[in-house]
Order: sequence, then C-alpha cells, then structure tokens
Amino acid sequence: MHAIRIIEPGGPEVLAWSEVPDPVPGEGEVLVDVAATAVNRADVSQRQGKYPPPPGASEYPGLECSGTIVGSGPGVETTGWAVGDRVCALLTGGGYAERVAVPVGQLLPIPKGMDPVEAAALPEVACTVWSNLVMVGRLRAGETVLIHGGGSGIGTFAIQFARALGARVAVTAGSAEKLERCRELGAEITIDYRNEDFAERMRAEGGADLVLDIMGGSYLGANLRSLTTGGRLVIIGLMGGRTAELDLGRMLVKRLSVQATTLRSRPAAEKAVIVSGVLEQVWPLVEKGDIRPVVDRALPLEDAAEAHRVMESSAHTGKILLTR
Ligand SMILES: NC(=O)c1ccc[n+]([C@@H]2O[C@H](COP(=O)([O-])OP(=O)(O)OC[C@H]3O[C@@H](n4cnc5c(N)ncnc54)[C@H](OP(=O)(O)O)[C@@H]3O)[C@@H](O)[C@H]2O)c1
Repeated sequence: MHAIRIIEPGGPEVLAWSEVPDPVPGEGEVLVDVAATAVNRADVSQRQGKYPPPPGASEYPGLECSGTIVGSGPGVETTGWAVGDRVCALLTGGGYAERVAVPVGQLLPIPKGMDPVEAAALPEVACTVWSNLVMVGRLRAGETVLIHGGGSGIGTFAIQFARALGARVAVTAGSAEKLERCRELGAEITIDYRNEDFAERMRAEGGADLVLDIMGGSYLGANLRSLTTGGRLVIIGLMGGRTAELDLGRMLVKRLSVQATTLRSRPAAEKAVIVSGVLEQVWPLVEKGDIRPVVDRALPLEDAAEAHRVMESSAHTGKILLTR
C-alpha cells in the first residue's frame, strides 16, 4: 500500500507519499481500507519531531479515518463488526495511508445520513471534546464554558456539543470571520483574543464554570482569572508553551481545579470506553443534525504537505480532510 511517511523531522516538505508494507491486523483488530482521514495539530507536532507516536503505534501520522472493513485479526468474529462494514475510527496513528489496522473498540458506525468521507472529520474531535467536557470537565446544562480557538477543528465541534448540552458558550478566536462562524454554530460570547482581554470579558460575563484550553502555559493565569468559584480548567493543548507560574492562592480561594489530558496516549481499553460514550451520547446528536462536522476543505491524501501548510497558517475554520 501507500502511506504518507515522515522522512525526517521538519517542515511540510518531509511528508512523502511512499510505498510501504500493508499493516497486519492483530488480536481484536480489523483492517480498514481508508476513504478519508483528517489533519490534527498533533500531526504537525509529530512531523516536527516533537510528538513521537506512543509505543506500538503506527509510525505514519493520522489520528482518525473513515472507510470500509476489508479484513480482520483473531477474535473479531463475536464483536459485531465484519468485512464490508462502513466505519469511522479513532486511531493512535497510521490514518495517512491506504489501509490501517484498528482495535474494534475504536470503531464507530458512519452516522446515519452522513457522507462516509465527511465522517472522517468526527472521531478525534468527538472523542476529545466528549471526554474533556463531560468525563473530565463535568459540564452541565446552564453552565458557561469558554472554548479557546473556537474556529479550530476541536472548537467548531465543542461549540455545537456544549450548546446541545444546554451550556452557554464563549469562544476566543483570532479573526472576525472565525468569530462570526462561531456565532453561527451557537457561541453567545465571542472574543477576539488579538484585541480583547478574554479574562476581563469573562469576568464581566459572570465568569466561566469550565475552560477548554488549547494554549497551556501562556494562558494559564488568564484562564484562572476567567473562572468562577468552583471552576474547572481542562488543558488539552500546549500551543502557548508547557510551563507557567500557577497562582495557588487564586485556586484555593476560588476552589478551582486544573487538569490536563491527552487522548492519544490513553490505553486502548480507555479509548474504547470513550468511543462507546461517544456512540451513546454524541452520535444521536449528529444523526439529529444538532452537530454537523465543519469541513474547511478536502485535499488528496498525497497532498498532505499542503494540508499541513494550511493548518500551520491557521487559515482554516474547522477540519481539513485528506481523501483517497
Ligand atoms: N489533548 C488531546 O487529547 C487533544 C486532542 C485533539 C486536539 N488537541 C489540541 O487541541 C488544539 C486544537 O487542535 P486542532 O486539531 O483542532 O487544531 P487547529 O484546527 O489547527 O486549531 C488551532 C486553533 O488555535 C487558534 N489559536 C491560535 N492562537 C490562539 C490563541 N492565542 N488563542 C486562541 N486561539 C488561538 C487558531 O486560530 P486563530 O488564531 O485564527 O483563532 C486555530 O483555530 C491543539 O492544541 C491540539 O493539540 C488535543
């Protein structure tokens, strides 16, 4: 088969469409013929050599895909999945390829009525957003959630999901166009982080019960100032660095909590729990049309380098798909 290999750590030009051996599905895994995959910021970090795949994972980038099951390893017969099923999947890597081996616990059916290619935009954002807003962040109806990077793949999904839960949604983004798109998706409070102090604005709006953060170090202080008493900060990205000073006095007085998580490094059993939660609680919202994947553009898989250039320029809103 062919896959996008990272020849060496570097810029987008190190991504090369190459002939490679077919993956062999192991115990409890199926082989998926990939129709589409999608680009995630983590793929950019992996390409730069800053985010190596966890042990045992495919060396090719790609954390999600859609496609058709074309083979299976031992122990799959009793799982309900079979050759010919159309699926989308959360991956630990290897999505930028013609075929990928996937543990059955990470498979999801294509949501009813959805184009199978478009479905490749869902698994990573659905699992990340559901696990962090619900399992970790305990978001409830009537609460206010601040979502940083509202125009991102993660953000465009998180806005719709939080709204569907009955939360009031605030977002930050770096342009008027992205903020307008966030409003269309259901955000009520929109903040241009280039021109406005988001912590001040959130305090004026009564404070956030939960912050979903992608910046890390550079936003830590302002995130804590944005939270109301009992507020939770959930950090899922480190685009603004990994270290910062933590004001424990503010945490203590306001009874705040800070958690940081990553989906990719979780063991397969934990991923399976998240995937089944998504199937139960998120898929019905997608099938009802309350949540739609926001796809900025689709490029051929061979043009992964161009897709990475777009992502690094932040010109996109929502997801960038790579199709066969
Ligand atoms: N921990 C996990 O399990 C997990 C899983 C998936 C994703 N993530 C993380 O989630 C983040 C988003 O991922 P993605 O794939 O959705 O990437 P993406 O679409 O490229 O989104 C990144 C966004 O950040 C915005 N941004 C840049 N600087 C900002 C700032 N100072 N304040 C607010 N927004 C800013 C960018 O747009 P503008 O500047 O134009 O607004 C862009 O929309 C990444 O950090 C990624 O690593 C974590």
